[in-house]
Amino acid sequence: MKVLVTGGAGFIGSHVVDKLIEQEHQVIVVDNLSTGKEINLQNNIKLINIDVSSSELSNVFEEHQPEIVIHLAAQINVNKSIQNPKLDAETNILGTINILEHCRKHKIKKIIYAASAAQFGNPQYLPIDENHPFQPLSPYGLSKSVVESYLKLYSRLYNLNHTILRYANVYGPRQNSDAEGGVIAIFSQQSLNNQQLSIFGDGKQTRDFIYVEDVAEATVLMLNKGNNQIYNLGSGKEISLNNLINLFKDILQKDISLNYVEARKGDIKKNYYSIEKIKNECSFLPKINLKEGLTKTINYFKNLQSHK
Ligand SMILES: NC(=O)c1ccc[n+]([C@@H]2O[C@H](COP(=O)([O-])OP(=O)(O)OC[C@H]3O[C@@H](n4cnc5c(N)ncnc54)[C@H](O)[C@@H]3O)[C@@H](O)[C@H]2O)c1
Repeated sequence: MKVLVTGGAGFIGSHVVDKLIEQEHQVIVVDNLSTGKEINLQNNIKLINIDVSSSELSNVFEEHQPEIVIHLAAQINVNKSIQNPKLDAETNILGTINILEHCRKHKIKKIIYAASAAQFGNPQYLPIDENHPFQPLSPYGLSKSVVESYLKLYSRLYNLNHTILRYANVYGPRQNSDAEGGVIAIFSQQSLNNQQLSIFGDGKQTRDFIYVEDVAEATVLMLNKGNNQIYNLGSGKEISLNNLINLFKDILQKDISLNYVEARKGDIKKNYYSIEKIKNECSFLPKINLKEGLTKTINYFKNLQSHK
């Protein structure tokens, strides 16, 4: 199939592209390279460097006639969204409406969308299932839930088929490890450099971590499954940051120095998903456990450092 991946040069997007190529689909990437990188993509991939809000998107749809859109492009930084909610909404809401308009005009078969656990805020019960109410603690989380409503609206108005995957905390190779990146990427870099790790809060906050290749596999699976459905996509397991650091110590076989600092606004205290729905309806289960995924991720960052 011909698949347009927005945000395809980013962390998750580039793994989705790899998976699509492995399954012999044709891939076009739209990415403004704001956080994504060209080197994340294999050489033969068509990369169109434009903003998802741009009017140039219509040429892309005209010229390439994608059958499926996987929409991953987004402003993903929670803190940035609190500091500049307008900027967040411009990409995450208005940019997505631009994509949706082209999807319906070109009668594409389906759009697959990356939603987030950030929509739920501090959970009312655990594990979080698909019916859990939304109480986002950031404009980022809100923008993701607003888009879910747009997808349902486009389905009612125009019969636009969609699948929504609410990713938990995704980690793995190619994740940004600067201050704005994911916690596992940051901890990997810092611990390899023998730096002190900063923990926001008491470290007892829990997260549901899923390895990026599992996420890519589930996302590509939705080309043929989950029509007009929503799935929570995580490992179905929770781990505290303190225990995550213990795993790092175990893998690296060394002690790690820690600095506990004040919790950040908009950070969620506890979360993990129920993944029963995706398991039962799509026969999907993540394959890589946390220790295995962490080892792969640490090795990736070690390799990066040795090539610098
Ligand atoms: N990483 C996670 O743990 C996680 C969790 C839940 C949901 N998600 C969602 O998954 C998707 C991918 O996230 P990621 O972690 O790979 O982040 P990322 O920052 O690596 O990827 C986002 C990509 O979108 C591109 N982009 C950003 N704004 C754009 C714009 N206006 N126009 C065109 N391209 C633009 C960036 O250059 C980047 O390549 C996002 O929608 C994010 O909200 C991620």
